[in-house]
Order: sequence, then C-alpha cells, then structure tokens
Amino acid sequence: VHIAVIMDGNGRWAQRQGLPRVEGHRKGVESVRTIVEESARIGIEQLTLYCLSSENWKRPSAELDFLMYLLEQYMVEERPTIKHNDIRVSTIGRREGIPTSVQAEMDETIAMSRGNKGMRLCLAINYGGRTKLIDAVKNIAQEVQKGNLEAEQITESVINEHLYTTGMTDPDLLIRTAGEMRISNFLLYQIAYTE
Ligand code: IPE
Ligand code: IPE
Ligand code: MG
Repeated sequence: VHIAVIMDGNGRWAQRQGLPRVEGHRKGVESVRTIVEESARIGIEQLTLYCLSSENWKRPSAELDFLMYLLEQYMVEERPTIKHNDIRVSTIGRREGIPTSVQAEMDETIAMSRGNKGMRLCLAINYGGRTKLIDAVKNIAQEVQKGNLEAEQITESVINEHLYTTGMTDPDLLIRTAGEMRISNFLLYQIAYTE
C-alpha cells in the first residue's frame, strides 16, 4: 500500500492558537514523526509526503528559512527512528534553491538508509508535478536522440521510470490535511486512479 499526503494547514493551525505561522510548521513536524512511525508499524509499504512545492518559494524568506531549518533538523534527528524502523528514505523534487547544508544532511540520511528493507519514505521537497513531467519528457527525448529508444517504445512504464527515481508504485490513497480539496501540483501523473 502506498499513501501520499499533502501536508497542509500548519499556518491556519497556528493562527487559531494565536501563534506565529512558523509554530504551525514546528507542530507539523511532530505530526510527521507520528505518521511515519505509525505507518511503518502497521506495515504501510510506501509513504510519500509533500513537504515543499516548487510554488512555495513565493512565501516570505523568513518562513522559508525556518522551513529549511526544520528540514535539516528533521534529517538529522530522525536517523535513529529511521534505523530502528528499517525505513528507506528517498526524495523527489529539484535540488536547486535548497541550501547546501540541508542537501548534505538529506544525502547522509538517504545514504544511511539505503540498505533498509522496511517502509519507503519519500519526501517531496521543491517538488512540482508539471516541472517533473517536463524533466521526464526532456530525458526521454534525449534517449531517443541518442538512439537508445525509439519513439514508438515510449510506454506508460517508460514514463513512470522517469518520474520516480526509485521505482515506486502509484499511490493508493491521497490525503490532504486541513480540509481543502486541491492537488497543488503534486503527483499529477501518478494519481490517475488514486482514491
Ligand atoms: C503546509 O501548511 C506546510 C507547507 C506547505 C510547507 P501551510 O503553511 O500551507 O498552512 P496553511 O495552508 O497556510 O494553513
Ligand atoms: C501544498 O500546500 C504544498 C505542500 C503541502 C508542500 P500549499 O498550502 O502550499 O498549497 P496551496 O498554495 O494552498 O495550493
Ligand atoms: Mg496551505
């Protein structure tokens, strides 16, 4: 089973408590911890979390800085949990714009969990469904240009391979927290039959 989550509503949660938005993000990380551990415990095979969209760069820089700080901290502090639960971590999304110190911690956590055999945890960071499709189309076109592939050989599985780097299946269930019903440029191609 593959569950995907659009993690929304941090700001509104904080507002209701009379707190600054960033406190909502801090609280959101606590929810992520619970969801990840519980999903691994009940045997979910794949969990994909939308952490930052390519459109989220439009947010105020102080908020973005805080999100980057939380991401870096999460990558470091979750290592014991990831190890203990045999979780394999991967990311999707463009690396451009993410501070190199954050990227380094992401890479270390990914490398450290590479041999794990339990739940796959995929973090969508600076992810956009359309840009991902554009990148995939470019890569496929290059393969055709090099003569490794015929245009007629472009099938659903070829497209799938180029959209995900780690051979994941399509999500069975997509959850958006906070009550809204938008896709916000998440896994556009992969959610064709997702509940
Ligand atoms: C989701 O919560 C967190 C991220 C997108 C990083 P929001 O920050 O979108 O919270 P709301 O939607 O404003 O309540
Ligand atoms: C979606 O939440 C993106 C993530 C959960 C990372 P947003 O709050 O950014 O989406 P919109 O802008 O309301 O569609
Ligand atoms: Mg939101």
